[in-house]
Amino acid sequence: MPWISIIDDKEATGELKEIYEEIKGERGKIANIMKVHSLHPHAMKAHMDLYVTLMFGKSGLTREERELIAVVVSATNGCEYCVNHHAEALNHYWKDIEKVQKLIQDFKSLELPERTLRMLEYAVKLTKTPKEINRADIDALRECVFSDEDILNINLIVSYFDFVNRIALGLGVEFTPEEVREYKEGEDMKDKMQLLNLHISRIKEIVDSPIDTNEKLKTICKLLRDSVPYYDWVGFYLVHQSREKELVLGPFNGEPTEHVKIPFRKGLCSQAAERKETIIVQDVSEETDYLSCSTKVKSEVVIPIFKKGKLVGELDIDSHTISPFTDEDRRFLEKVCEIVSVLFY
Ligand code: SME
Repeated sequence: MPWISIIDDKEATGELKEIYEEIKGERGKIANIMKVHSLHPHAMKAHMDLYVTLMFGKSGLTREERELIAVVVSATNGCEYCVNHHAEALNHYWKDIEKVQKLIQDFKSLELPERTLRMLEYAVKLTKTPKEINRADIDALRECVFSDEDILNINLIVSYFDFVNRIALGLGVEFTPEEVREYKEGEDMKDKMQLLNLHISRIKEIVDSPIDTNEKLKTICKLLRDSVPYYDWVGFYLVHQSREKELVLGPFNGEPTEHVKIPFRKGLCSQAAERKETIIVQDVSEETDYLSCSTKVKSEVVIPIFKKGKLVGELDIDSHTISPFTDEDRRFLEKVCEIVSVLFY
């Protein structure tokens, strides 16, 4: 038990209960580091959102690089709780527990690529002697071809672990092995679902905001494209108000497309409209009934949008990756369409 009182999930009521249930639904469990926030549920939610954004959101850093920073910063601070958690997560990628142990002892004892070494050196220096960081440290990262955006992400993750390590160490948050045992195959899927769920809350906020409908749909397209690395073109098609068998391009984010009007005759959007169901094509080169927008597009998903049972539009997403879409994308995007349907008429 930590050194301050906590409200367990079984005793929680009101807002705390709702937040616990949200976290449980997304991650299947509530980590002790989250439970320690139970007297301040808002902070728990904000913390969780920040964690998911930094560790699973869109970034030039790989998941492995992010977990590497987590382990090395936590080891530097002597935070056993976070080391345990993130060593397990890192080993999901390395599949070599001895190598992970060496990393925890001294990352310099491993033959890591120069770029990784510089990143970890920055992480340790910022953790131990933040005041001594200077422009030359940033230039050293740039030399290893980290962009300024990558450098920001490195800094945010280092700073995040310095923050969370102090929560664990400062409040006596204990590690229980059950907490990490579940980090096995399938855990990344849970993480992905959690990230997608975070976007659901943002989309609801956008739908309820005071901006006009077009702006709302535009903002949602941008949010989706910015957040999921393989969503390369995101747009809404609207069913033509008088010609019911025609789709008209609405707000979108990505390169302009020649398909601004699509009669229900050809293509994936027509198929989704006629069949009134989500169409996922993992490799468009194998699809004959398809309207191409660009040779870069490798796969596509089209989700019909219904209002009172009537087709009112579609959400269309093109990807430059082959086979990127999973069941999680389908569930998430169908949920998005359900939420945005109130904006259509
Ligand atoms: N590929 C679509 C056309 C629309 S664009 O992808 C934006 C189709 O086959 O219907």
